[in-house]
Amino acid sequence: MGNVALKLSATNKTADRAGVDDPLTPDFDSYPIRHAPVSIELETHGIVISWTDGRTDRFNRYWLRENAVQDGIVDPVTRERELAITELPETLRVVAARIEPSGTIVLSWAPDEMETCHHPGWLRAFADRSWQPSFDLPEHVTWDAAEMPEPPSFDGPTVLRDEATLNDWLVALERFGLARLRGLPVEDGLVQTVAERIGTVRPTNFGLLFTVESKPDPDSTAYTSVALDPHTDLPSRETQPGLQLLLCKKNSCIDGASLMVDGFRVARSIRENDPDAFDALTRLNWLFSNRHRETDYRRVGPVIDCDQNGAAIEIRFANFLRAHPDLPHADIERAYRALRLFMREIQSDRFVCRYAFKPGDLVAFDNRRVLHGRDAFDPRSGERELEGCYLDRDELHSRLRILARRRRSREATSN
Ligand code: OGA
Ligand code: ZN
Repeated sequence: MGNVALKLSATNKTADRAGVDDPLTPDFDSYPIRHAPVSIELETHGIVISWTDGRTDRFNRYWLRENAVQDGIVDPVTRERELAITELPETLRVVAARIEPSGTIVLSWAPDEMETCHHPGWLRAFADRSWQPSFDLPEHVTWDAAEMPEPPSFDGPTVLRDEATLNDWLVALERFGLARLRGLPVEDGLVQTVAERIGTVRPTNFGLLFTVESKPDPDSTAYTSVALDPHTDLPSRETQPGLQLLLCKKNSCIDGASLMVDGFRVARSIRENDPDAFDALTRLNWLFSNRHRETDYRRVGPVIDCDQNGAAIEIRFANFLRAHPDLPHADIERAYRALRLFMREIQSDRFVCRYAFKPGDLVAFDNRRVLHGRDAFDPRSGERELEGCYLDRDELHSRLRILARRRRSREATSN
């Protein structure tokens, strides 16, 4: 549709300022104004803003209107929407627009003669797609054993008190799916204190926290001294825990090294080298089941779940919890061939990062990406005790975003 011939110019340059009188935004983030608006053009279905860097962005009328923070539209207190989109008429349009000296954009509307104010930094950030879930998160970097001789490590006590080091640890955890803290006190419950630097702990049938030690009447292979092949925890559940934290409290046993494998790298390698096995691992389903006297968790799914581009987004595999192929007989041979290949890969020196787990060390890992395990140990040679807990991936992502938000807020107030 043709543009209405109304073009407005900003009177003052406003780049790099963020004032106390800036309009509220429909969230709690900060939006330093790096590029101020210089002119606004009206269109039938919205507006076009030109910025000081020469870029132009279009904004839709319904979207602009429903994102104004004022009573009846977006509640200034909760910053959640009150307006139902059905309350707006189809004839809704912007009839005038101006840019205040502060950069604030003021829109006048028909047919209801309302005015709304919009934060230019927020509009620009929307156009930059900073609302995307991935925006403040580091990209994944996959690894094999040569690239990851031991987990990236950070000082535990510093992470407990210092936000910048907490951020460094969590960035490594998101990027590599694995990051370690060292030098922590081996106190009961400390794993929860560390977990709560990230977010809410996710309880399971093993408790809020669980202790891994060799026990007389074990309810899991984990609670014995036998080797644990690399696995994800709780594949017998609909949603496997996204993160696992394990703190080593005691380890004087001979052997029992810890193992970590980047499942996303293994998936990529199988996809490149044996596409048929990859196809079988992503499409042929297995039952994973927890076998216990008092609980009965079951989940059917493929070993590798991937996105539309064929990149792995989740691994579901624990050999000791794997039950049956959920397949017609004709597919079972193929499913086993692929599974045997997958298991050889996750046991191979090419992919297994093997390191000693020392008292005071805490490893955090993405349980839906990185498979973990241990070598067998001799329980008579000493004591071995780990304390662990789970969280969802969402907790890590939320914490990383809040840390980034706090950095932006400091930046905005220091300008
Ligand atoms: C577990 C587990 C690792 C270890 O408890 O699920 O993988 O080192 N333990 O004992
Ligand atoms: Zn485990």
